[in-house]
Amino acid sequence: MTDFTRLAEDIAREAGDMLLAKRPTMSVAPGAVQTKSSPTDVVTTLDRASEQLIRQRILAARPGDRILGEEGGEAPGESDVRWVVDPIDGTVNFLYGLPEWAVSIAVEVNGRIVAGAVNVVPRGEMFTAALGEGAWLGGERLRCNPAVPLGQALVATGFGYDSARRAVQAEVLTAVLPRVRDIRRGGSCAVDLCSVACGRVDAYYERGVNYWDYAAAGLVAAEAGAVIGGLRGRPYNSELTLCAAPGLFEELHDLLAPLDPERDT
Ligand code: IPD
Ligand code: CA
Repeated sequence: MTDFTRLAEDIAREAGDMLLAKRPTMSVAPGAVQTKSSPTDVVTTLDRASEQLIRQRILAARPGDRILGEEGGEAPGESDVRWVVDPIDGTVNFLYGLPEWAVSIAVEVNGRIVAGAVNVVPRGEMFTAALGEGAWLGGERLRCNPAVPLGQALVATGFGYDSARRAVQAEVLTAVLPRVRDIRRGGSCAVDLCSVACGRVDAYYERGVNYWDYAAAGLVAAEAGAVIGGLRGRPYNSELTLCAAPGLFEELHDLLAPLDPERDT
């Protein structure tokens, strides 16, 4: 494990422990919830507390590094190193007491992601990866499911917070669902990508996820042998993130591309 991976893991573990300790036992404590881009896009005081803790720990260990976080935006710095942080991916699950949420921390050097840790806190599972060195769940090296044909693929996806975008996502889904084994909507992009990495699903696609959602888990999936990309040869991005083993990736891509899944109306 690289020093970056180890540090990302340590900090993701500490933030996860804090969240578990402070999480309300009853779901949806109204005073603790605000909304962001739409009435369904929630942020809790614990999202902010988690990001603050993560920022403090990163800067204590590596003063001067840059940090991009979902809640606090970009903090400038001189370093070639930038940390990409989602303090809780799957905030709605967190709020409702569902088990699919994670703390996600990635490390970029000169714009390239080199390390990542995804702490799926309720399950006690720590996914880690280092560029060119593999992906792990705890001590176990990960490989995604090879050679699954589209018709037998279990496909994870998700939906954005904007109502018009959701209408298109639902339309795309009606064309995908009859062609695959089944669909899963777990509620955390980071967990979905880690699920591809460890073979709990065969593929994942989603329109509109943010860089902090997939930065760490995308490396986990890629290091587990999955292809992760966008439409028509583009690198994966917020327009569309698509991930599956080679072969299935192309099949799912060719199903999605003519549906124009990047549109919002
Ligand atoms: C969300 C989750 C969800 C995905 C949404 C994301 P958040 O992140 O990753 O699975 O469908 O598009 O915004 O808001 O819980 O950090
Ligand atoms: Ca997120």
